[in-house]
Amino acid sequence: MIVGVPKEIKVREYRVGLVPSSVRELVAKGHRVLVETNAGQGIGMSDAAYEAAGATVVRTPAEVFAKAELVVKVKEPLAPERKMLRPGQVLFTYLHLAPDREQAVDLVKSGATCIAYETVTSPSGGLPLLAPMSEVAGRMSIQAGAYFLEKAHGGLGVLLGGVPGVDPAKVVVLGGGVVGTHAVAIALGMGAEVWVLDRNTEVLRGLWKQFGRPLNTVFSTRDAIERHCTTADLVVGGVLIAGAAAPKLVTADLVKRMKPGSVIVDVAIDQGGCCETSRPTTHDEPTYVVDGVIHYCVANMPGGVPRTSTFALNNATLPFVLALADKGWRKALEDDRHLLAGLNVHRGLVTHGEVARALGFEFVDPARAIRA
Ligand SMILES: NC(=O)c1ccc[n+]([C@@H]2O[C@H](COP(=O)([O-])OP(=O)(O)OC[C@H]3O[C@@H](n4cnc5c(N)ncnc54)[C@H](O)[C@@H]3O)[C@@H](O)[C@H]2O)c1
Repeated sequence: MIVGVPKEIKVREYRVGLVPSSVRELVAKGHRVLVETNAGQGIGMSDAAYEAAGATVVRTPAEVFAKAELVVKVKEPLAPERKMLRPGQVLFTYLHLAPDREQAVDLVKSGATCIAYETVTSPSGGLPLLAPMSEVAGRMSIQAGAYFLEKAHGGLGVLLGGVPGVDPAKVVVLGGGVVGTHAVAIALGMGAEVWVLDRNTEVLRGLWKQFGRPLNTVFSTRDAIERHCTTADLVVGGVLIAGAAAPKLVTADLVKRMKPGSVIVDVAIDQGGCCETSRPTTHDEPTYVVDGVIHYCVANMPGGVPRTSTFALNNATLPFVLALADKGWRKALEDDRHLLAGLNVHRGLVTHGEVARALGFEFVDPARAIRA
C-alpha cells in the first residue's frame, strides 16, 4: 500500500503523522511511504532521516494526497487538504467532527474513508489514541505549575519540593484519571505534598495502590474541594465526564479564597474547564490572573512538547496504521471493532452516532457501511 504523510499546516502544529522509525516498520512490510519535504523539520526529523528509513520524500502535499491510498496525519484536515481527498482513500488522524460541520460536510463529499483517532476504543474501555496526549498534558501540568509558582513568573515564590527544613508546596489534583495519574506521578517525584480528589472510589483505590502513602486520596465533594483548594499552592484540573462539558468544581467565589500567587492549571479546558474563571489560552500567552490566582489554561498542551507528543502518538497509532496497510481498510475494520469505532465517515455516510446526532446527519452503522 502507498502510505502518505503530509506536513501539518495548522498554525504552530509541529507534530507529524509518522516518525522515521514507524516508516521503517511499514517499509519492512513491503509498503511504500511518501513523506512531504520538511514534514518532521519542526521536531528535528530531517528528510534525510525519513529517506534513511525507506521513505520517498516528495515536494508538495498535492503529490502525497494524489498518490497515497492511506493518509496519516495528526490534526484534522484543513479546507485545502480536504479538497485533495478522494473516494476510496483512507484518512487516519484526529478529526473532532462533532463541533465542526464544515469539515464534516467536506469529508462526506470527499467519498473518503475517515477514521478518527479520538473515537478508536480499547478492550479496557479507554480511548487509546487520546490517552497518550492526556499522559503528556498531565505530566506537563506540574512542570508548568512549578514554573509559574516562581516569583519571577508571578507566583508565590515556592519550590514544589521544598528543601530540608522547609515544607514542600501543596499540589491538589482534581480528577484521578489519565491526566491526574500522570500529574500525581510527577508532583510526587518532585517531592511535593500531593492530594488527589476523585468521585470514583475505584479510581482512588487504584491510585492508593499505585503510589502508596505519600499520596493523599480524597473523595471529591464540595467540602473537600473547598478545603483543599483554599490551602493549595498548585491546583491541577483533570476531570472529565465523557461526552459532557467539564463540571465547574472550582467556583469563582472559591478562586477569591485561594492563596494569592497560587496557580491553577486547568487541563480540562478543552472541555470548557473545571474552574468557573477558566478560559482557553495558547502557548504564546499561556496565563492570566484572576483575584491574584494565576490561571494556565492552554487548550493544546501537548503542542508545547511536539517531539515527545509525536513519539507518544506514534507508539499508539502504529499498530492500527500497520493493520490498515497490511490488510486494507475493509478487513482491518472488520477484524477489529475498536478500530471500527474510529470510523466517522465512509463513502459519503456518517458512521459515528455522536457525530451524526451532533450535526443532524443520518447515522449509518459502521459495520453495515463497510459491507455495502
Ligand atoms: N489541555 C490539553 O491540552 C489537554 C490534553 C489532554 C487531555 N485534556 C483533557 O483533560 C481532561 C481529563 O482527561 P483524562 O484523559 O484524564 O480523563 P479520564 O477520564 O481518564 O479522567 C477523568 C477523571 O475525572 C474524574 N471526575 C469526574 N467528575 C469528577 C468530580 N466531580 N470530582 C473529581 N473527579 C471527577 C473521573 O472519575 C475520572 O477519574 C479531559 O477533558 C481531556 O480532554 C486536555
